[in-house]
Amino acid sequence: MNYKISKIKARQVLDSRGNPTVEVDVFTRTWRGRAKVPSGASTGVHEALELRDGGDAFGGKGVSKAVRNINRKIAPKLKGRDVRRQKSIDKLLIELDASSNKSNLGANAILGVSLACSKAGAHASHKRYYKYLARKCKNKRLVLPVPFMNVINGGEHADNDLCIQEFMIVPLMKTYGRSLQAAVETFHILKSIIHKKYGKGATNVGDEGGFAPNLNKVRDALDLLVEAIKEAGYEDKIKIAMDAAASYFYKEGKYLYDKKKITKNRLIKEYEKLMKRYPIISIEDPFQEEDFEAFAELLKVAKKQKVMIVGDDLTVSNVNRISIAVKNKSCNCLLLKVNQVGTLTEAIDAARLAKKNRWKVMVSHRSGETSDDFIADFAVGLGCGMIKAGAPDRGERTSKYNELIRIEEKLGKRAVYGKSILRLK
Ligand code: PGA
Ligand code: ZN
Repeated sequence: MNYKISKIKARQVLDSRGNPTVEVDVFTRTWRGRAKVPSGASTGVHEALELRDGGDAFGGKGVSKAVRNINRKIAPKLKGRDVRRQKSIDKLLIELDASSNKSNLGANAILGVSLACSKAGAHASHKRYYKYLARKCKNKRLVLPVPFMNVINGGEHADNDLCIQEFMIVPLMKTYGRSLQAAVETFHILKSIIHKKYGKGATNVGDEGGFAPNLNKVRDALDLLVEAIKEAGYEDKIKIAMDAAASYFYKEGKYLYDKKKITKNRLIKEYEKLMKRYPIISIEDPFQEEDFEAFAELLKVAKKQKVMIVGDDLTVSNVNRISIAVKNKSCNCLLLKVNQVGTLTEAIDAARLAKKNRWKVMVSHRSGETSDDFIADFAVGLGCGMIKAGAPDRGERTSKYNELIRIEEKLGKRAVYGKSILRLK
């Protein structure tokens, strides 16, 4: 009785960019699960469809249609169902939508319901959320993920000329807590270095909370990170990662890299030089989202340097795209974003397919986020060992890092840090 869905109520709220997004409450007789849906800016073309209203209100970005789909079409179908039966709930949502990319009901509508059900299910089962999710993932090993913290923002996330979208620091101390501290200290030192070098305004932050100085050279950003890591005293303990999000600087067959048009072969060579020169441990979306071959060529080089090649826009958390990438040997790590695919079950399936093929998995936020801290519990439950959640300075980003602090506290001595999952240089 306590497990039956008694009511579902959705509404339009705001995300971290000030755009409308979907919030869903799923009720059982005594419990409630609430989820808010994130939204990307550098989205992959193969992602599930985020339903927006169009028209004048909110610059066309309203989500009232998605909200209405939940309240009028989804809610009546789910009422009375056992909230713990995630797979059958997600199956029903997929069938109700009946399109290949969730364009009828909207992936934002479907995901909000899927996640809110999982939260209500955890409450109703009196389980901690990460443990509940671990069971859904059929995973026994809870792992606190290594944060991939985006501290310099470029590309679609910042108003500057940096072509590469994200420059991340990756702290590898013994525990999550100690790693978080090291990353935060480095972040503040980076701020003072940028201020000294580039003056006022240069330490304003981008969408994911990283600084967005008006640099136009990739190497300038990497040099800043190296300097900050060194000054903070964490050389060897903090590595560097990048998300190129290269579809967004790919124009007419060439890449507009550091303001020069270059071929993909030149770009491969450039990445190779960067891997040799800097303590880089992963590169995400190094090429545009259809070029499985270029990814594969770079992976061959990257493996020798023990650098991960991560698929995001390439693979869009979708088993069909992941299968193509596996066949082409395009990457060895999956970036996992639940809203790219639209249900919790499909996201778990994507992670399992990746793991089965001996890829690593990195759970990720979106550039448009909310205070919802689902990804923190999901990363621990999945046991994947890595999370991408932005810089440690905006509420929608720190909510994830803070939830991980609470989980580490709860796990106490049993807390395992994801460092062991990364194979390092
Ligand atoms: P997005 O950026 O949320 O704007 O897509 C994050 C990423 O590309 O990884
Ligand atoms: Zn990305």
